[in-house]
Amino acid sequence: MECHDLSSFTKIKINLHFGVMEHAFEPLKNDLIIRAAWGQKVERPPIWVMRQAGRYLPEYHQAKGTRDFFECCRDPEVASTLTLQPIERFAGLIDAAIIFSDILVIPQAMGMTVEMVDKKGPHFPNPLKSPDDGQYAEVMNKKVDVAKELDYVYKAITLTRKKLQGRVPLIGFCGAPWTLLCYMVEGGGSKIFKEVKTWIYKYPEETKALLQKIAEVCVEYLALQVKAGAQLIQVFDSWAGELSPSSFKKFSQPYLEYIAKHLPRKLKEMGLDPVPMIVFPKGAWYALDAACDMGYNVVGLDWLHSPEQTLKTVGDRPITIQGNADPGVLYGSHASITEVVEEMVKGYDWANRKKGWIVNLGHGITPFVNPEDLRFFFQEVHRLTKTD
Ligand code: CP3
Repeated sequence: MECHDLSSFTKIKINLHFGVMEHAFEPLKNDLIIRAAWGQKVERPPIWVMRQAGRYLPEYHQAKGTRDFFECCRDPEVASTLTLQPIERFAGLIDAAIIFSDILVIPQAMGMTVEMVDKKGPHFPNPLKSPDDGQYAEVMNKKVDVAKELDYVYKAITLTRKKLQGRVPLIGFCGAPWTLLCYMVEGGGSKIFKEVKTWIYKYPEETKALLQKIAEVCVEYLALQVKAGAQLIQVFDSWAGELSPSSFKKFSQPYLEYIAKHLPRKLKEMGLDPVPMIVFPKGAWYALDAACDMGYNVVGLDWLHSPEQTLKTVGDRPITIQGNADPGVLYGSHASITEVVEEMVKGYDWANRKKGWIVNLGHGITPFVNPEDLRFFFQEVHRLTKTD
């Protein structure tokens, strides 16, 4: 048998044994977050923070240089470098990487233009106006080629997994359909949500059709991220808190449930193993109980929840909670940081439970935080949850 025959034989065998193994990555040296997300008892709570690769890090500005934000997302070498920055700075203290990208790459893949305006945030020059507008029909009728349009994200994920060399797991993510719809019709951030409220209260059926379309793209996008090497996934519903309890049930929850139900099916179809799924319905404090039954393994919480009340609501359901320190504490004194960590450790009853908690902030880390204060936060979590 010639040499290349032997290698293809080995490759086929690997495929048979492990399912479709697209890439060979180094085994994980730290799988704490994966075990915690599946609800297992762990030696200490895993930690990462949303937006951990970003503007508060001087090395982010240095590596980004004068490049446009989306240019960084589209360049796998740059995106992987930025993803690794917090892992390198906080080596030994941090338990997950999250791929450097943005939730707004989905509207881009659906044919919309999105720009990132310096110091202002995202801007859609042509947001969706109403269902009668030609652009709505265009978006609804477009067959989105999720594999092709977002190929740069999968490449960035695969390259990042290689560069991580198994140090920590890599999280993939997408925006929730409701949050993406907000951006697609508001055209950017908003204070009064005039446009999206017009949509849900004036054109509920057309709104739901669009939400469903976005949800389908999300499932395919997340599945391809897993195929490329993402080991957990998070769905960011950053604007969930703009809905009332009743409108959340109509315009957010069904689509979050759709993703949780269909992603594992899709992964199975693709011959891939399931990955833990995290949902972050920011601001929807009234939906915590429902979020525990939406099919996710982990529910991410903002800082409006007390850990004690959270544990009561979760009850004996096999849900891991992620969160939920007020990101603003990182502007405070070290004594305040210690106090917030102590309150969480006690509130989540860590000493007795040893499971069901992934430490995070209640939202993304904000600009102007001193990275060394984040280090102190991490160190305090390690110190206060140490078991000897
Ligand atoms: O480190 C990480 O968490 C990974 C990277 C990441 C970014 N955006 C990079 C980014 C992630 C997970 C996101 C998700 C995202 N993007 C969300 C959900 C999380 C949340 O904060 O609620 C949202 C709502 C967006 C949309 C978005 N992107 C906004 C509103 C802004 C501008 C305001 C801001 O907070 O920065 C962005 C820009 C953005 N996304 C930056 C980064 C590092 C800043 C770009 C820059 O100015 O250099």
